[in-house]
Formats: sequence, C-alpha cells, structure tokens
Amino acid sequence: MTGKTSPLPQMRLGAHGPLIGAQGLGCMGMSEFYGASDEPESRATLDRALELGVTLFDTADMYGMGANEEFLAPFVTANRDRVLIATKFGYARTSERPDDWSLDNRPEFIRASVDRSLQRLGVDVIDLYYMHRRDQAVPLAESVGAMADLVAAGKVRWLGLSAVSADELRAAHAIHPIAALQSEWSIFTRDIEADVVPTAAELGVTLVPYSPLGRGMLTGQAFAGSLGVDDARAHFPRFAEENREANLRLVGAIERSAAALGVSAAQLALGWLATKAHAMGVQCVPIPGTRKRARLEENVAAAAIRLDDDVMEELEPLAAAVRGVAV
Ligand SMILES: NC(=O)c1ccc[n+]([C@@H]2O[C@H](COP(=O)([O-])OP(=O)(O)OC[C@H]3O[C@@H](n4cnc5c(N)ncnc54)[C@H](OP(=O)(O)O)[C@@H]3O)[C@@H](O)[C@H]2O)c1
Repeated sequence: MTGKTSPLPQMRLGAHGPLIGAQGLGCMGMSEFYGASDEPESRATLDRALELGVTLFDTADMYGMGANEEFLAPFVTANRDRVLIATKFGYARTSERPDDWSLDNRPEFIRASVDRSLQRLGVDVIDLYYMHRRDQAVPLAESVGAMADLVAAGKVRWLGLSAVSADELRAAHAIHPIAALQSEWSIFTRDIEADVVPTAAELGVTLVPYSPLGRGMLTGQAFAGSLGVDDARAHFPRFAEENREANLRLVGAIERSAAALGVSAAQLALGWLATKAHAMGVQCVPIPGTRKRARLEENVAAAAIRLDDDVMEELEPLAAAVRGVAV
C-alpha cells in the first residue's frame, strides 16, 4: 500500500475543466435520508473540507426538497471562488409532493429547475449541473440540448449525468461535452465497470462515484444495530433484515484487510476505488458523504491510498456475494 500520508491529490474535471481535489464531499445526508443531523457539526465539516483541499461539493434539488441547497448557500457564497458546487435536476419531488418520485427531463422543467436551484444556492452560476436520472419519456437529445442552452446562457459551467448507460453517455457527449458522470461505484457495487467506466475513460469524462462507502455499510460493524425511522436505508434491500447480517459478514473481510494495513474500513474502501479507477484509466473523484469532521479527515487521508494486487484480489469476490440490489 502507498500514499497513506500524502495531501489530497488533484484530478481534472472532464477533458478541459479545472483541476479539483481528488475527493469531493457528498452533502445529501446533512439534510435528509440518513437520520438526524447536527447542523453546527455539518457546517464545521464543510469548512474543514475546504481547508483540506476538497473542491467539489455535491447536492441535488431534491435533497430535503430544496433544503440541502439552501443549507449550502451561506457556505458556497462565502467561498465562491474556492467551491465547485454541483447540483442536479430531474425528480419532480417538492415539499408539496414529497412522495412524488417521478422523473421529468422536459426542457421547460429543466429551465425552471435551474432557476430554482440558482435562487436557493444564492449564486449566479452553477458549476456542475447534472441530470439526476434519465426520464425515458423525453428524447435524450432534447434534454441535453436544453442543458447545453444553460451553458450558453451562463447559468451553468459544466454538464454532468447521473446513472446513465454507456450508450447514453456517448450520445449526450456528442451533443455537448459531458464533464462528469455520477454513478454508484464501490467494493459492493461494480456494475459500471463493464462498459460505463471504459466509455468515460475514452471520452475524458470524470467519474464521480456516489455512495463509495456503500451508504455507510462498508465502514464496518456500526450498521449491525437498527436504523431509525427517519433513516431511508431501513427500506433499502441491502440493509433489510434478511440481508444485512450476511452483508455485514462480507464487510468483515474488508475490516480484516484494513486492520492488516493499519487503516480504517472506510479508508480501505476509498483506496480500493482509487486503485481500481487508476487501473481502468479513468479520472475519478468520489464523493463520500459525511457530516462529521473526524470522518471527513479520515476519508480525505485515504484519497492517496493505492492498494497492492494481493489486497485487490482478496476484495474481488465480495461484490458477487452481496445480497440485495443497490438502489
Ligand atoms: N446521483 C445519485 O443518484 C446519488 C445517490 C446517492 C448519493 N449521492 C451523492 O453521493 C454522496 C455520498 O453517498 P452516500 O452519502 O449515499 O453514501 P456513502 O458516502 O457511501 O456513505 C455515507 C454514510 O457513511 C457514513 N460515513 C462516512 N464516512 C465515514 C467514516 N469514515 N467512518 C464511518 N462512517 C462514515 C456517513 O455517516 P455520517 O454522515 O454520520 O458521518 C453516512 O452514513 C451523497 O451525499 C450524495 O451527495 C448521489
């Protein structure tokens, strides 16, 4: 293993974008989905991330139905020249309709969404604007065309897609350069390695793995306890009662490998990702989510870790043994 104490390395955003810290910060949990948050500690975590060289801060309009963008606004505006703010459109969900999980990629919806996000974030321009999910009812060219218009209008700097196929990524990139692709990628979730990662590498699209810690599961036995009623993971198949114990046994293998190397399970998971991305020739900026300074420091310290082949081989069979689909 190498790189345990190196500072946060840098990666390019897309083929022609800026150099950014090679690890971003997922901010979703600060407002919704993973149980109660301590607001002062979340704010201190944002500041500490910036100090440690994190550039990319990830949100979406639907996280807290606008609340996460509003929560980030003071931090983003106070540090506008140092923060690269990424947000997303595509879910119809609002505070009036919190259970509406339908998708909308129509150009008029995109135009209205960007204005709402700009207003909530308190900025003139969004640095990275993602299509959160593809709405199959709308031709991709229409949606990406509308996104490209936002770049021309100066409302958005770079474009991103989330959870699309390799063919969709290629088609979108032919309409307007796509700087980043956000998809789930971790020791437990490896579907994108077959064709999405090679396509991103070929096109110079930066891979932004979400849930790189398996929504917390890969960090260790802490998840053996029960999840609160306001924790969405209680409804996710991998955390369901019938699967959780078996999956945590697999996490035991991660913990043993980590202990042998003197790192935490979370650090091993991030080191695995960096090593895999490097081997596959793709620029990679994972966005582990945390609301706590100590965990942020632990995660950032792992960004330069590269694992030896024997450790990668030990971890190789785990994904195939995981019970329950990723959501
Ligand atoms: N595009 C999409 O569809 C999509 C989907 C999901 C997520 N995302 C984005 O990706 C980001 C990250 O994904 P995620 O939050 O779902 O999952 P994740 O990063 O895999 O895991 C987050 C969980 O791990 C815990 N954690 C973080 N660092 C830890 C450490 N060192 N030790 C122990 N526990 C640790 C966090 O708890 P604490 O917060 O309490 O520290 C939280 O419960 C999100 O914030 C969001 O911005 C995007």
